[in-house]
Amino acid sequence: MDKLLIEGGRRLSGEVAMSGAKNAALPILCASLLTAEPVHFTNVPHLNDISTMLRLLGDMGVGVTMEGADGLVLNGGGLNNPVASYEMVKTMRASILVLGPLVARGGEARVSLPGGCAIGARPVDQHIKGLQAMGAEVTVEQGYVHAKAIRLKGARICTDMVTVTGTENLMMAACLAEGETIIENAAREPEVVDLANCLISMGARISGAGTDIIRIQGVDKLHGATHAIMPDRIETGTYLCAAAVTGGDIRLLKTSAAYLDTVVDKLLDAGCDITVERDAIRLVAPPRLKAVSLRTAPYPAFPTDMQAQFMAINCIADGVATIRETIFENRFMHVNELMRLGANIQIEGNNAIVRGIDRLEGAMVMATDLRASASLVIAGLVAEGETVIDRIYHLDRGYERIEEKLAKLGAAVRRMH
Ligand code: EPZ
Repeated sequence: MDKLLIEGGRRLSGEVAMSGAKNAALPILCASLLTAEPVHFTNVPHLNDISTMLRLLGDMGVGVTMEGADGLVLNGGGLNNPVASYEMVKTMRASILVLGPLVARGGEARVSLPGGCAIGARPVDQHIKGLQAMGAEVTVEQGYVHAKAIRLKGARICTDMVTVTGTENLMMAACLAEGETIIENAAREPEVVDLANCLISMGARISGAGTDIIRIQGVDKLHGATHAIMPDRIETGTYLCAAAVTGGDIRLLKTSAAYLDTVVDKLLDAGCDITVERDAIRLVAPPRLKAVSLRTAPYPAFPTDMQAQFMAINCIADGVATIRETIFENRFMHVNELMRLGANIQIEGNNAIVRGIDRLEGAMVMATDLRASASLVIAGLVAEGETVIDRIYHLDRGYERIEEKLAKLGAAVRRMH
């Protein structure tokens, strides 16, 4: 199992380019199932989750070919197997995103239930409820969701809670349904908007993406298109935190602060100086950060995917911060590992009270989930001495070439096989 070795204490400085957004690419690759024509994608990040999704789609008969450095062409014309096996789905819960497109395009899908993961139970009942509202016959047996429909019918759907992939699954299914579908209480995440833009370029008729009411007029078929994946706002926020905690001065390229308002606001409150350009963002950190409290919630509020990273920077900030996690029931797995580095954190229900201390001490720690791993990297960059992070396959799921990018910014980091 690979490990990451980090020698703390280096200021990050310089420039590095961000990659395409994992959480936009995953649903967008599934959109290729909705048409028999080739769809071209650019700015696709090279991540383990993306490779897993491409294997899954390939198993279904979708043609996958590389195109240039970060491009792909997916051809749904060969779709011949509407099954997502447990073997595939258990490694990546986002596989559930094939459910809606498969039922819409071929009238049938058998997708393994994703099961829980480190951060929570993460059920998919809203995905199922929405498809049933559109006329699909859905049964759950032997751990598989089996959905069938001659042709989905437009429906008015209001999800019980805001669900990002639930909104994405139902929006994709609605594209080929008969009539109009209205999704209320829809997720407003930028990745939902990026998917909608891709679907529209394929001939879908969608309005309201980015608001909590999305209207989709079903059409008979979609055609091929070309789509560039949006920049990864969570990768961007992660590197901003790494620079902030090391007193750094960095400029991130091929990205945008447009979807990071709440994260930028919190970094400004912490004492950072931030300059926003059209497709770049620069952060100059203060000698010591001020503690910042936060509460996660669906977009446009503070993103749960940045919670662990902010907990790391609060560990050595000046003051006490309260971090409240409202989306997932178990997204504090990084707390015990941060405490191994000397952090002073108390958990009270879904609140974590972080008392800033002067310095962290390097230690052996273990990654448990994607964003928890990122918080350990951030803490390791500023901890005195060496930090060794085990099980970094979690990191590789969502951060492209992280040790290369950090080393480019001056960090002393290397991967140990
Ligand atoms: C997406 O997960 C992201 N993944 C997650 O990013 C992100 O943390 C999450 O949205 C919240 O922003 C992708 O986009 C691939 P939800 P998703 O459905 O869609 C409950 C990362 O680190 N719920 O919005 O699975 C659920 O349990 C990952 O990149 C139901 O109860 O999250 C959770 O408490 C981690 N029933 C809440 O809703 C359902 O049918 C929000 O989940 C669906 C969701």
